[in-house]
Amino acid sequence: MSSNENIKVIVVKDAEEGGQKAFEYVKQSLEEGMEVMGLATGSTPETLYTKLRQSDLDFSDVTAINLDEYIGLPADHDQSYAYFMEKNLFEAKPFKETHIPNGLASEEEETARYNQVIEEHPIDLQILGIGTNAHIGFNEPGSSFDSLTRKVQLTKETIEANKRFFESADEVPRYAYSMGLASIMSADKILLLAYGENKAEAVANAVNGPVTEDVPASILQKHKDVVFIVDEDAASKL
Ligand code: GLP
Repeated sequence: MSSNENIKVIVVKDAEEGGQKAFEYVKQSLEEGMEVMGLATGSTPETLYTKLRQSDLDFSDVTAINLDEYIGLPADHDQSYAYFMEKNLFEAKPFKETHIPNGLASEEEETARYNQVIEEHPIDLQILGIGTNAHIGFNEPGSSFDSLTRKVQLTKETIEANKRFFESADEVPRYAYSMGLASIMSADKILLLAYGENKAEAVANAVNGPVTEDVPASILQKHKDVVFIVDEDAASKL
């Protein structure tokens, strides 16, 4: 195991064990008074969300803020991130408030509204996955480290990676609203999860590579409190 001095890397056997470790981290944050939790979608946090659903943890005093949403999908579309969060967490675990960008709202209004939400609710713990190109949220390579919530265009690689959830690549939305890299960095603590060999390069570049806007997750090297939980496959290039 190798680890950048700022990023603590915990290597686990698989996504199941990763979900358990992440669950314990969230539980501890809750016990320490977490009021605002930043949430991620994708297949990676599913084992964590399963454990949260099955637990007796109480989130009724916690505000949830999600990272991103596809533009053009209504909240009840089965591939919207709003729908994902309802099914994977919120239906079973009521939060005090939940926030997610509205994929049908106009760019100017929605980005201003969401930036305001984040400003009014400073995030105690942000959960992240990572794209195969090292994106976090939908901050694709080239995103400014100073970025706030904005409209982003998805790269070909991300559309390819996410087409498995849709009938075909053509169905994958081309744009999303995403919290920016500066918004993510403003969280007090960050927990990034990554499983599988296809994440190994992104994880290695994020942890040990140069801090560059070509590798969005590399900005995390500059954060004061960041933990990666990765399985052996995702750790294989560290
Ligand atoms: C998606 C999401 C990210 C997620 C990443 C990895 O496109 N916008 O928030 O972390 O890609 O997804 P998965 O966990 O399914 O590999």
